Amino acid sequence: MNGKDQKILVSTFEKEVCEGLTAFPKYLSSKFFYDEVGDKLFQQIMELPEYYLTRAEYEIFETHKSKIIQSFDIDKEGFDLIELGAGDGKKTKILLQELQEKECDFTYMPIDISQNAIDGLIHTLDAEMPEVAVQGQIGEYFEVLDRLKHISDRKKVIMVLGSNIGNLLHPRAIQFLKKLNNAMHAGDLLFMGFDQKKHPQKVLDAYNDKSGVTAAFNKNVLARINKELNGNFDLDKFMHWETYDPENGTAKSYLVSKERQTVDINDLSIEVHFEAWESIHTEISQKYDDDIVNWLAEESGLEITKSFSDQHKEYKDYLLTKAE
Ligand code: AVI
Repeated sequence: MNGKDQKILVSTFEKEVCEGLTAFPKYLSSKFFYDEVGDKLFQQIMELPEYYLTRAEYEIFETHKSKIIQSFDIDKEGFDLIELGAGDGKKTKILLQELQEKECDFTYMPIDISQNAIDGLIHTLDAEMPEVAVQGQIGEYFEVLDRLKHISDRKKVIMVLGSNIGNLLHPRAIQFLKKLNNAMHAGDLLFMGFDQKKHPQKVLDAYNDKSGVTAAFNKNVLARINKELNGNFDLDKFMHWETYDPENGTAKSYLVSKERQTVDINDLSIEVHFEAWESIHTEISQKYDDDIVNWLAEESGLEITKSFSDQHKEYKDYLLTKAE
């Protein structure tokens, strides 16, 4: 990498791309996969035969919906159901339906940074479940959670589905859980999905599908650099590579340069040099077992009170409370 001239880097994207591509070894954060194209690719990933996570969690909701709702321990005051990163709400709708049938008093509050995502969800819920009270919240998770902490005196159940926590290394996952803990009052609940350790090949296949959608998803970060920062990455000169370490349960995604090459990122005024087979680390997708989840909970001042699993025990949703 050579600095062409000094530049003031304004956005987080600019700063982090510059930091990650001038570091050794190179890295980029998976949070940058998600623009309009990336969101669509992720929707496609969730439909892939190899990507078992979404179906497993859907099965948990279908099979255990009644017990899940029972475990929320709702009194006549009702409760607020807060979901971080709700997406299309496909899984959550199963619970909403069940809550409605049981005539529970609740407000559903999906939180997302994307106005588009929230508008879409509110629109479909309006059409499909007009009786459900929905209050979409747009903003950063923690800023919104801080606001919600005092929005009502009702019990809160916070949901984080899809093993989204798995995209964070353990120290950052603990920070995230501690912040959630801070947003909770005694008696509030956290309902969270954690993908479980399993046959290593099954994990590898889930993140390296035959149709190449995951590869396109991974490469989308390079496409974004081209589009948004005026870069000239040739996407064909990089390959998607997945590893899984069964010892620590960490799946890692990389982009590997197939040849020696130099890439210009004009808006950052940098040239990025790649040796042949040099990598950019782009994502971790952590897999868990009960011991790891227990440890994360303890470190964050939380405790597990229940868990719900699919029939093959490949995925679990845990119910957590503030530790006494
Ligand atoms: C959003 N997140 C939990 C997904 C995962 O499984 O790590 C993102 C993903 N990356 C590749 N495929 C799916």
